[in-house]
Amino acid sequence: MTDTLTIVDNRTGKKYDLPIQDGTIRAVDLRQVKAAPDDFGLMTYDPAFMNTANCRSAITYIDGDKGILLYRGYPIEQLAEESDYLETAYLILFGELPTAQQQQAWAREITNHTMLHENIKKLMEGFQYDAHPMAIFLSTVGAMSGFYPDAKHVFDKPARLRQTHRLIAKVPSIAAWAYRHSIGRPYVYPDNDLSFTGNFLNMLFKMTELKYQANPVLTRALDVLFILHADHEQNCSTTTMRTIGSSQVDPYSAMAGAAAALYGPLHGGANEAVLRMLNEIGSVARVPDFIKRVKSGEAGNRLMGFGHRVYKSYDPRAKVIKRIADIVFTVTGKNPLLEIALELERIALEDEYFVTRKLYPNVDFYSGLIYQAMGFPVEMFPVLFAIPRTAGWIAQWEEMLLDPEQKIARPRQVYIGPVQRPYIPREKRA
Ligand code: SDX
Repeated sequence: MTDTLTIVDNRTGKKYDLPIQDGTIRAVDLRQVKAAPDDFGLMTYDPAFMNTANCRSAITYIDGDKGILLYRGYPIEQLAEESDYLETAYLILFGELPTAQQQQAWAREITNHTMLHENIKKLMEGFQYDAHPMAIFLSTVGAMSGFYPDAKHVFDKPARLRQTHRLIAKVPSIAAWAYRHSIGRPYVYPDNDLSFTGNFLNMLFKMTELKYQANPVLTRALDVLFILHADHEQNCSTTTMRTIGSSQVDPYSAMAGAAAALYGPLHGGANEAVLRMLNEIGSVARVPDFIKRVKSGEAGNRLMGFGHRVYKSYDPRAKVIKRIADIVFTVTGKNPLLEIALELERIALEDEYFVTRKLYPNVDFYSGLIYQAMGFPVEMFPVLFAIPRTAGWIAQWEEMLLDPEQKIARPRQVYIGPVQRPYIPREKRA
């Protein structure tokens, strides 16, 4: 037995042996399969990349059937229990858990980069008060490419590290200022005495007190949520980051695109869509009727927060989030929508429609309940996803840049348009 795939082209009777490596065959190996000498050769056709590996990555491992998620080999459950977001971001970005000294230096760098250029305020003032904070977030991230022109030197390691520090440190500040703009409150400056997540809560919620002190239970809960959202291999927004980054543009421009992809309701916008769905259902009594509409396949009636392209079992992050919800509710009081969510889950986990399609709660199903209980408006939920995912986006972008096999992303197509035809003068058109 050999690690090869033998295929016979029945159009010509010719046989081909293709090498199998890491469970894949190289798509370019199919180009030799021709029906005639001037034939282009075979391609693979894979809309939405349902079965295509676009890279080799050492950052995150997911086993969708077993519900396993590892960051650089460490189980997500252990990181959620033992680590904190900044340490996990270091792990994802640099490949190893930091020593105490490395963690101290890393935290200091991040703390020293939390300030935003004062002109960012002018940019934000241009938005209506009710502009969606994700629109402000992705615009501001893109605008930062204009503030840091050294970011264009993508193959300069010190320059990449400077942008990494700036992006990890500034996304909470951008998010907080977008929120403050939306509620007409003054911007709050960073407090360097506070932790990464403690300072984020300070910039969001500080009022007239001299020193804002966030509730330690809520601070830890949000920090764990950041750990859970930090990376997730080749999801839609990360693939966008890699694709845009493959043109060798600066990381701010690439990340503006990644944030735009995350904004969609099928991706990071799902946590906001879950809350709107729960509010629309309104009561436990109306859950069966809603489930019926979902099963009818009526356009727009998806069970938001359920299903996943990779997880065909319970999303391991959702399990941890459910435990965090119980802890948060001891401080904030139970979110009344929780009962509706639990009833939806109970029915979905036993209903044949969902079971046959392997639809389980994903990371977005319960996270919104926590965010809402903590006082965030639903529009902020995707922004709360983008903050920690910044670590994953940057790590994946850098891995792509340094991968000798990667080059500018430029897929092929199957052309189904009209064959060549002559121009028709306007007066002769029907
Ligand atoms: C995230 O990729 C990642 O890793 C993403 C993420 C990350 O960390 O980056 O994990 C974060 O984006 C989580 C997913 C959040 N999205 C939602 O909760 C939105 C609702 N879920 C879906 O729209 C859907 O499940 C997707 C988009 C998540 C996955 O879609 P797929 O893999 O393309 O599956 P599909 O749309 O082809 O659906 C397969 C079948 C279809 O039924 P049939 O046409 O075969 O009859 O399952 C049905 C779908 O109609 N289906 C659902 C459903 N999701 C899929 N039916 C009802 N409710 C749903 N939520």
